[in-house]
Amino acid sequence: MKRVDDFRLMFGKKEYVPIVIGGMGVDISTAELALEAARLGGVGHISDAMVNTVADRRFNAKFVKEKLKQYKFNVANTDKSVVQFDLGALAEATTMHIGKTMEAKRGDGLILVNCMEKLTMNAPKETLRVRMRAALDAGIDGITLAAGLHLGSFALIEDHPRFRDAKLGIIVSSLRALQLFLRKTARTNRLPDYVVVEGPLAGGHLGFGMDWAAFDLATIVADIQQFLRAEQLDIPLIPAGGVFTGSDAVSFLENGAAAVQVATRFTVAKECGLPEDVQQEYFKASEEQIVVNHISPTGYPMRMLANSPAIGDGIRPNCEAYGYLLDANGHCSYIEAYNREVAAHPGVKRLSVMDKTCLCTQMRNFDLWTCGHYTYRLKDTSHKLADGSYQMLTAEHIFRDYQFSTDQRIALPESVAG
Ligand SMILES: Cc1cc2nc3c(=O)[nH]c(=O)nc-3n(C[C@H](O)[C@H](O)[C@H](O)COP(=O)(O)O)c2cc1C
Repeated sequence: MKRVDDFRLMFGKKEYVPIVIGGMGVDISTAELALEAARLGGVGHISDAMVNTVADRRFNAKFVKEKLKQYKFNVANTDKSVVQFDLGALAEATTMHIGKTMEAKRGDGLILVNCMEKLTMNAPKETLRVRMRAALDAGIDGITLAAGLHLGSFALIEDHPRFRDAKLGIIVSSLRALQLFLRKTARTNRLPDYVVVEGPLAGGHLGFGMDWAAFDLATIVADIQQFLRAEQLDIPLIPAGGVFTGSDAVSFLENGAAAVQVATRFTVAKECGLPEDVQQEYFKASEEQIVVNHISPTGYPMRMLANSPAIGDGIRPNCEAYGYLLDANGHCSYIEAYNREVAAHPGVKRLSVMDKTCLCTQMRNFDLWTCGHYTYRLKDTSHKLADGSYQMLTAEHIFRDYQFSTDQRIALPESVAG
């Protein structure tokens, strides 16, 4: 009976444990979590989502305060087009977050950054260019292009000295998306080093419509494999979404996947950025509590716990401080939803906005509890304590469970209750 450790992810001559911990914004996949994956010989991700905010929190910087000070005059204005990111500050924050993580890296694994195209930041091309270039300058091992088609992303860094040596990969949820990406980037004469194929059971935003349940990860992976074989393209494939046990991973690896990308199991690790009381909500969740809805202003469906405080919360848009989802014209669909409710309920202090959420503020405050479909199985991965809470896990324990388990078994941690 095979286990994950019988396989290796190969990049050139280098080999890695074929476990990739996926990026989880905003600082849910922390540097500490990614560093553990790298120390154990696998691949970890940090995320550059809301990096100014993350740099403030981690390194006591003042990026958000400075931006808010500059644009405070615009807070009551519904037109947010003037609220631009300072590109120098964005580069500085990215360099801080990534540079400090890479300085702390130990072991033979890799640390990549998850870079979402949907963070359009009121100047999509300019800000994405700065984010990717600063990440490469700061020594990141590679960039995973996420949440978007990224048709122009390679071109934004093709003249960077690390364009051909850094690992560059993309997340897709269909063969069509991959074909489009390959066609549009062919001119740069550089293939992605890996393709993460994310199925409908993943956490975060989904690359599917509300009919996500009609799709199946193994089928999408097989489609893509067949296409790559026919085109004689040798690109490592990394399935993601719903890989909950080592045995789940082995079934993909035996079918030719290069590695698996996992995330939900690590949301209850000590090294994960979620506050501990929120991690207990993940442990306790029942299957009925895990919902896919349209409240994200990105336009993508998103999976989350139904008891997330973000749902229905009508907070005033905070784009002067954040503004990561403002499109090229300074629009965000939450602003419109909020303004509609303000107009419909004049004088009401605490509004409820049901159809959209202020994703920046809610993710920043850990009030939107996005999660994978199998979150309801987390309770089977630890011990329930006398007070009804669950024992926290270490990233090392979860990683090694994926690496060595067989027979769909999940190793429980050593009990602290004795
Ligand atoms: C809490 C959470 C946050 C996530 N945030 C992101 C993100 O910011 N960007 C992204 O590309 N994927 C994100 N994902 C998706 C994961 O990186 C990963 O591909 C997927 O969840 C793997 O499936 P699993 O959670 O069933 O293991 C997130 C997943 C979770 C659970």
